[in-house]
Amino acid sequence: MLTRETSSKLNLFPLTAQVDEHGHLHIGGCDVVELVKEYGSPLYLFDEFTLRHKCREFKAEFTKRYSNTLVIYAAKAFLNRALALIFKEEGLGLDVVSGGELSIARSAAFPLGKVYFHGNNKTVDELKLALDWGVGRIVVDNFYELELVNRLAMERNINQDILLRITPGVDAHTHRYTTTGIIDSKFGFPLTTGQAETALIQAMSAANLNLLGLHFHLGSPVSDILPYQVAIDLVLRFAAEVKAKYGFQLAEFSPGGGFAVQYILDSPVPAAAEYAEAIVSKLTGLSGEVGLTPPCLIIEPGRGIVGQAGVALYTVGAVKDIPQIRKYICVDGGIGDNVRAAFYGAKYEALVANKALQAETERVTIAGKFCESGDILARDIKLASVLPGDIIAIPVCGAYCIPMSSNYNASLRPTILMANQSKARLIRRRESYEDLTRLDLV
Ligand code: LLP
Repeated sequence: MLTRETSSKLNLFPLTAQVDEHGHLHIGGCDVVELVKEYGSPLYLFDEFTLRHKCREFKAEFTKRYSNTLVIYAAKAFLNRALALIFKEEGLGLDVVSGGELSIARSAAFPLGKVYFHGNNKTVDELKLALDWGVGRIVVDNFYELELVNRLAMERNINQDILLRITPGVDAHTHRYTTTGIIDSKFGFPLTTGQAETALIQAMSAANLNLLGLHFHLGSPVSDILPYQVAIDLVLRFAAEVKAKYGFQLAEFSPGGGFAVQYILDSPVPAAAEYAEAIVSKLTGLSGEVGLTPPCLIIEPGRGIVGQAGVALYTVGAVKDIPQIRKYICVDGGIGDNVRAAFYGAKYEALVANKALQAETERVTIAGKFCESGDILARDIKLASVLPGDIIAIPVCGAYCIPMSSNYNASLRPTILMANQSKARLIRRRESYEDLTRLDLV
């Protein structure tokens, strides 16, 4: 029998998570203990069912309230070819922030007309690539870029569709590293300084730009619906004002991404339906009030789609018990594959994946293997009694862990598997020692 605590923890794991009679965790019908035996650890395991379910949930919750919605997945949360193919099949668009993300999308034959190119300092080469490859929208972030995109489009004799990124001046109270909606931000045209209006006038008169709409993004994760409503209010009122002044038509509107996922037991977050309700009700209500034709709504979930679908699996090595102080459980990964705890103070739960039926009687700290004292994945959490060789599963590792991973300490980036219907396929092999010197020229 599962304890009540373990059953609640299981809810943080992918939707297919189960525990068998040996106390082994199963994801997508696969015994994760067996997967670690076969593929080694650290191992990142994605659940295809959860991934597709989340794509469909975001689409359904928004389109049933507002049919003219396009869900674009924020690739920065994690993109590789396997995921790009799934998002393509699910009919999503893509938000990319670099030539690299764009090239991954292209290599999976992702329809580039549904790609939105973000970023506060896209390089000339990246923009050339985007224009040459027919990227759907450039989300223009600043005056330098406004001129640059117009010039590059002119040289190519094309008319490039763009959105303007607006900084509404709304604090969504995320970690300060991920807060982007305040005026003192490197992203976007500030609303309150008049720069957003100047940019809009310039964009409307640029010969080779087709200004389709406005975008903002407040931060990530935003675990409250209110900041979205406050910002929508400001940006739509601005759109109405510039419609009256300059005849601007808001054809597309994006309140960005930032939808939170639940990482730990006592921190629930709004469901996709609640974000959808808050955003759509404000959008429709206000469009009517200020006389705007309801625009196409673009939403950009990243974490909300991949977060819960991914699990990190580690093997326990050293266990260090300091009497009356702390018990450290050391695993074979850490800040190399998941820098989020060290960088943002992110919190995680964990489960002993081969002892899921045992009561969680110990309070332990999960440490990584990297040469940094800050290399701690979870501090003072409850676990079943752990011995070397046990497998630790950390839920909600699908977003931002792999893309922020590094080769620190010349570590090897992990294997990634995709589980579905009792089969697991390799979607990225583990790096090898040869990979570490592959780019060296002497
Ligand atoms: N749209 C824009 C313009 C963004 O900048 C971001 C995230 C998103 C959408 C997607 O946000 P999401 O739905 O995934 O929350 N590395 C941090 C998160 C940085 C997010 C950057 N921008 C972390 O590990 O928490």
